[in-house]
Amino acid sequence: MNKLVVFGSNGLLGQSIVERFKNRYDLYAASRGAENKSSLADERYTSVDMSNRAGMKDFLDRHRPDIIVNAAAYTDVDGCEKDPEGCWASNVRAVENIIDSCVGFEPVLVQVSTDYVFDGHEGNYTEKDEPRPSGNYARSKLAAEKIVEQCPFQHIIARTQVLYGYGKDLKHNFATWVISRLSSAKNIRVVTDQTGNPTYVDDLSESIYRLLERREYGLFHVSGSETVSRYDFALKIADVFGFDAGLIEQITSDQLQQLAPRPMNSSFVIDKLVNRIDWEPGDVPSGLQRLKIRLVDSHG
Ligand SMILES: NC(=O)c1ccc[n+]([C@@H]2O[C@H](COP(=O)([O-])OP(=O)(O)OC[C@H]3O[C@@H](n4cnc5c(N)ncnc54)[C@H](OP(=O)(O)O)[C@@H]3O)[C@@H](O)[C@H]2O)c1
Repeated sequence: MNKLVVFGSNGLLGQSIVERFKNRYDLYAASRGAENKSSLADERYTSVDMSNRAGMKDFLDRHRPDIIVNAAAYTDVDGCEKDPEGCWASNVRAVENIIDSCVGFEPVLVQVSTDYVFDGHEGNYTEKDEPRPSGNYARSKLAAEKIVEQCPFQHIIARTQVLYGYGKDLKHNFATWVISRLSSAKNIRVVTDQTGNPTYVDDLSESIYRLLERREYGLFHVSGSETVSRYDFALKIADVFGFDAGLIEQITSDQLQQLAPRPMNSSFVIDKLVNRIDWEPGDVPSGLQRLKIRLVDSHG
């Protein structure tokens, strides 16, 4: 059985990766927090600050995995503007530390990246389109891509976007935020001018799983199959969960004054992925139906 290490196992994607991979791989998990939030047994969890070179070296030397999935990142996009050093440490130095720590073994490396590498002026981005990042988060994620591209190991770079899903003790993602507000009849203001492909987190894990099983390496756009504005995404959430759509107010991005720049239309073309893995991530209603089942299972 191949040994796999997942970094960021306490996060939204990390928890989903653990669920998908734990019966197929000899799986070990690491995240920064002292406590293990994923469904993996506690003895398989290690608290690792990936920006600490010695700690990383010690951890990887002990495990010497066949595969590393890096689902960790400093994902607070506005936080990255206020804390550029912390952003660079977790998004770039951490990746350098992974690569530099693999001495005497050659794992396949999976790096998860983002639609923010694009400026969002065009939309329908393929893997061949030129990135044009703006903001610290976007620049740090592109820098990490470049480091992985040049590393001596087989690798997969999976760019994704607008991730949503449920996990234990997580901060809200867009979908869970909308659900929490509308379920208690609170108004929300949602932008009509930011467009993308919402990605149900289990579809991203499934895509990474299939890419690895088929030994398909390189750069892939991995997102849900449907392009919608944030406002339309919120309407679909109200529809699937049976909430009052009248609580959703339309606004535009200039009314939000978000600190970091956002790509306005970062929609992906996912044909390369679909052709290589012979499977397609779902559309928005399909992801939301699965999220609904998951929430009922978790909360009763
Ligand atoms: N969320 C989105 O909409 C979105 C969109 C595009 C791309 N992505 C990319 O998808 C990936 C997964 O995102 P996500 O939403 O699952 O993120 P998330 O829920 O914020 O989880 C990220 C995890 O990374 C861990 N982490 C951060 N810095 C670390 C460090 N220095 N050392 C060890 N662990 C560290 C944190 O661990 P602790 O909790 O233990 O501190 C956290 O649980 C990231 O690469 C992100 O850039 C996300």
